[in-house]
Amino acid sequence: MIYLDCAATSFQKPGEVLRAYERTLLSASSPGRGSYAPAMRASVAMLAAREAAAAFFNFPDPERVVMTMNATHALNIAIHALAQPGRRAVISGFEHNSVVRPLIASGMELSVAGRRLFDDESLLRDFRILLKGASLAVSTHVSNVFGYVLPIGEIARLCRQEGVPLIVDASQSAGVIELDWHELNCAYVAMPGHKSLLGVPGSGLLLCGQKQGTPLLFGGSGSDSRQKTMPDYYPDRFEAGTQNAPAAAALSAAIRYITKRGRKEIERHEQELCSHMRQLLQNREELQLFCPEGEVQSGVLSFRCSTLDCEEIAARLGEAGICVRAGLHCAPLAHESAGTIATGTVRMSFSPFNTHGEVEAAAAKLIKII
Ligand code: ALA
Repeated sequence: MIYLDCAATSFQKPGEVLRAYERTLLSASSPGRGSYAPAMRASVAMLAAREAAAAFFNFPDPERVVMTMNATHALNIAIHALAQPGRRAVISGFEHNSVVRPLIASGMELSVAGRRLFDDESLLRDFRILLKGASLAVSTHVSNVFGYVLPIGEIARLCRQEGVPLIVDASQSAGVIELDWHELNCAYVAMPGHKSLLGVPGSGLLLCGQKQGTPLLFGGSGSDSRQKTMPDYYPDRFEAGTQNAPAAAALSAAIRYITKRGRKEIERHEQELCSHMRQLLQNREELQLFCPEGEVQSGVLSFRCSTLDCEEIAARLGEAGICVRAGLHCAPLAHESAGTIATGTVRMSFSPFNTHGEVEAAAAKLIKII
């Protein structure tokens, strides 16, 4: 099998991640719910994950690292905390449904900034204009479909200038592309644990820069139990119910792995694989590749074919043991911006564990199919 769908989930995990998960599952119970050994082990696992994530993202306060089920959960918490029905939110033209749907459900009006792929200038110009009078902004850091790395530091600076709180969706960047809290200094940053952070499905993080907001979920927090409302301190305010200590332990191990191997080195590796794939496919006239003019920006490559459906290509690659994702990738807005809403694209996304040999084998199979 050749797995090229890391943008959905990094399927291959470092051994130490799996071992940490299993060890914690076998030895830890409910965090914050007791002083006996298994409960304490669970609490320690949660705290260690918050500390590891805070250090990794240069975030000042581990207690404001909230553990979530995934990025969608984290984004829903953040949007719920800040949405104002009837007011306007500015979003980039590359948002996933995990941003668009909760914003629509919350009754906010949407303005879309940046409808051209890999065009920072028009994106920033739109944000500059549309932020005036808006009450919220949400932007992805990297497009999950096209691997476009948005100028998130600049977007954050514009939002601060206009006094508009910003939520960053770091789903495709966390763990691989530089993400430094000090550069963002925004309301919230949401991310999954199971993509480039190399943790397990069922895990995510929300870095809470903002100190207010109504919780999305209400329930037991293991603290202030006499009180009928959620605690007003973090992480308890946003962590109702029993938390996933094995996933937290897996995340700590994954962050240690990334730090040891080097985030920059992983980024370089994935970009090289993506460049290699682009080079092998770029002369096929049936294929339209969606890449920036210069260097590739990340480890994600989308394309479509004039002679075969995207779904058909993905199905035939799948039969040959090559795993890619085709269609709209839950991001119809990004496809509208790129002009691919009618066809979708086939997406290949690389991980630290892919090799150049796999790139060559997958490209050869694709060329045979088309
Ligand atoms: N959002 C994930 C993807 O891009 C699942 O495939």
